[in-house]
Amino acid sequence: MNLPNMKAAKVRGAEVVQYLENINKKESAFEGKNYFLRTYGCQMNVHDSEEISAIVENLGYQKVDKMEMADLVILNTCAIRENAHDKVFGYLGRLKHLKKEKPDLVIAIGGCMPQQESVTNEILKKHPYVDIVFGTHNIHDLSRLLLEHQKKQEIEVYSIEGNVYENVLYKRDSKITAWVNIMYGCDKFCTYCIVPFTRGRQRSRELTPILAEVRELKEQGYQEITLLGQNVNAYGKDLANPVSFATLLREVATIGVPRIRFVTSHPWDFTDEMIDIIAKYDNIMPYIHLPLQSGSSRILKLMGRRYTKEDYLSLFQKMKEKIKHVAITTDIIVGFPNETREDFESTIDVVRTCEFDGAYTFIFSPREGTPASLMKDNISLEEKESRLQQLNELVNSNSLKKNQEYLDKIVSVLIEGISEKDSKKVYGYTDTMKLVNVIALPDVIGKIIQVKITDAKSFSLDGEQVL
Ligand code: 5AD
Ligand code: SF4
Repeated sequence: MNLPNMKAAKVRGAEVVQYLENINKKESAFEGKNYFLRTYGCQMNVHDSEEISAIVENLGYQKVDKMEMADLVILNTCAIRENAHDKVFGYLGRLKHLKKEKPDLVIAIGGCMPQQESVTNEILKKHPYVDIVFGTHNIHDLSRLLLEHQKKQEIEVYSIEGNVYENVLYKRDSKITAWVNIMYGCDKFCTYCIVPFTRGRQRSRELTPILAEVRELKEQGYQEITLLGQNVNAYGKDLANPVSFATLLREVATIGVPRIRFVTSHPWDFTDEMIDIIAKYDNIMPYIHLPLQSGSSRILKLMGRRYTKEDYLSLFQKMKEKIKHVAITTDIIVGFPNETREDFESTIDVVRTCEFDGAYTFIFSPREGTPASLMKDNISLEEKESRLQQLNELVNSNSLKKNQEYLDKIVSVLIEGISEKDSKKVYGYTDTMKLVNVIALPDVIGKIIQVKITDAKSFSLDGEQVL
């Protein structure tokens, strides 16, 4: 195999590419063949997989849910922490065996991992049975890559040059809720984070095509849309004519989709105007995912987060005061290099004060190429695990307490499907993003119904439909 062809990074002035090829004309090259797609990581990857599905189905492939039935296996990978990376390499071992039994199997690896040069080199050297390697910036190349591969040309492409794509076709997983990308990449360069390297610098879409996409989704009957970006609050700052996220939110809200959500927020870019808009429009959901990362101002500084413990607490308070029954969840990293017991106690203190509705907690994982990976990691794994456990106990008891506040209340729930645990129930989410398993007939799927909450656990609620 050839080594990848890597283009130089274009830091600013991302091109807007109208994405019309590949999708207007159905290619029958792979008619009758099956593909299996496995997605790792965040919502951005899940949404990218909807684009990947549209591309390969347009080539004639049909989706299967067992890799053994597939002629094409695509792994859409994540690089955020070492364990995500390890999972993919573990899975590759299984694919190697499968390819021995089925030599025509095509294996493609995309997503965030190949955006790291060292990882791509590792795949190419140690896993030569992988046929196609593509990065987050080359999804639109996938149809060409597959067609060329069929002609027995060996190709791997990944680039670190990010553009903005319009007219992208998605094969959306749901007919009820949809993701809408409002921006690509991130400019924050938190010292632990690989994202600015795997997804490139921040590139916002223009307001007009975003609003057009939302209008189209509304016409198709979607009940909920989630505006997607690594740091949505910084939306529009990079446009030639800057637009604020507050303006985008207001414009989206007036289109009238019943539920609007957004992820992910960065406290530094969250303005009072944004809070006011969220509070003002009933169809902007009172749910905010606001990563804290650490409750110690000293560690926050080392992380390059640009806010202190006090800044976070005052923003949090403002949200609670202004947005009726808002639910706030967070992300926290423990065991960042040099985190002392005292720093950790400061995180515990913030978690006690805020009583988050939920929190995703992680042990710091050094990512090659990030500044934090060069910092001396001076905390033992045992200590990190004990901090994580202590934090999780508090986080889970807060979640339970918050969920118990819903007992006997009647809340609106958007029903998304049949409950996985009990086929006699349906499941959906409250406006505050609480998962509810509901006793109701399946004809409520896709509707917002009133539900009386009958039981509360740490991670879900139970309820019955109120007619
Ligand atoms: N180590 C541990 N957790 C990380 N995250 C991002 N990078 C790392 C890392 N190197 C966490 C952050 C972020 C979430 C998506 O993943 O908490 O908000
Ligand atoms: Fe990573 Fe920080 Fe950007 Fe979030 S804001 S994607 S943590 S660099």
